[in-house]
This record gives sequence, C-alpha cells and structure tokens, in this order.
Amino acid sequence: METRKMYLDWQHRAREDVLQVFGDKKPDFDGLSHLKVTITNEILHAQVTMILNEVLRLYPSVVLLDRTVQNKTQLGNLTLPPGVHLYLPTVLVHHDRELWSDDETEFNPERFSEGVSKATKGGLCFSPFEWGPQACIGQNFAMMEAKMALALILQHLTFELSPSYVHASFTFITLQPQFGAPIILHKC
Ligand code: HEM
Repeated sequence: METRKMYLDWQHRAREDVLQVFGDKKPDFDGLSHLKVTITNEILHAQVTMILNEVLRLYPSVVLLDRTVQNKTQLGNLTLPPGVHLYLPTVLVHHDRELWSDDETEFNPERFSEGVSKATKGGLCFSPFEWGPQACIGQNFAMMEAKMALALILQHLTFELSPSYVHASFTFITLQPQFGAPIILHKC
C-alpha cells in the first residue's frame, strides 16, 4: 500500500498562525473576513489560503467541466459547430508539469505564497471554481467555511491520518476519498 506523507510541518505552521491571531478565542466570521486588516491576520490568511489552494489544485472537487457549443464558435484556429461537446479536464491541467514545474504532484503550498496569479504565471490554469460567467457563486462562502473549520480544529487539536486510510480518490459527482478519510485527533 502506498504510504501517504502527512506534511505535519504545514499543520504546525497553520496552527501557529491561528493561535497568533485568535489565541483561545472562538474564531468568528468577522475575524475571518477582516483577515487583511492587520499584519498577523494576513499571515493566517496567507498560510491557510495557501494550504487550501494547494489541496484544491491537487484534488479539485470538480475534476472535469463540460460545455456544449450552442452557436458556431471560433476558438483560436478551431471552428466549432453547434452541438459539439467540449471537456476541460481541470484535474489534468492542475497536474501539468509544464504549468506547475517538476514538483506538480507534490503538496507544496509554498507555490501560492505570492498569490494565485504568481503561481500560475498569470494564466488561468488554476480553476477549482472555474472562471468566467459560470464560475462558482459559492466560492467565497466555501473558502470562508473551510478556513473557519480549519481554524477551530487547529486551535484545539492536532490530527494525523489513521493507518487504516487508503488513498483512493474517485469521482462520484465530485472528487472524494473512496473509503473516507479516517483521521486520529489528539488534544493539543
Ligand atoms: C470547495 C467547494 C466548492 C467547489 C470546489 C466548487 C466548484 C464549482 C465549479 C467548478 C463550478 C462550475 C461548474 C461548471 O461550470 O460546470 C461551480 C458552480 C457552482 N457552484 Fe460551486 N463549488 C464549491 C462550493 C459551492 C458552494 C458552497 C455553493 C453554494 C453555497 C456553490 C454553488 C455553486 C453554483 C450555484 C454553481 C453554478 C453557477 C452557474 O452555473 O452560474 N458551490 N462550483
């Protein structure tokens, strides 16, 4: 069975930031939404956002986008007649070595340390929420919710993957761990 790295160093870095910003106070929506107000809050924002972005790069919940051409459309030098189905495999774009350099399969949140546009060299190759008129309307809510959950967990607990975890990503509407993701929690 493949052994999974746990990247406890990143868990540690994220926890330090959460404790620095919130201490043992309950993180609230206002605190999280005003993350950019102070320098320390920016650090929390950066670390946790970097980690979430890297997770969404490696495991985008929506792995494939499909579109049907309604009207004759020119795409570069391709002329697409109505009825053509287009598939954009987000998960493959997110793992493209030419776009992400030779550590494309590694979990490396550091690549997002200067934001998404630096990490993608200004391209649109990072699209967990899609871009354009049909982009996800829930993306800010989803990111805020994930940050809140992570902050609450990191404040009180450390966690590691259970030895019973089997790495088997599969798609059932969205990308999921086929046998769940059992984790072991420890009180800090
Ligand atoms: C990590 C969490 C989420 C991810 C990765 C995600 C990803 C996406 C993606 C890729 C699309 C575009 C699908 C397509 O064009 O075929 C989409 C659309 C959409 N998402 Fe999300 N989503 C997330 C959470 C949410 C949440 C929390 C909500 C609502 C509160 C939401 C509401 C929507 C809606 C309504 C659309 C359709 C938008 C449209 O077609 O105009 N999503 N999402």
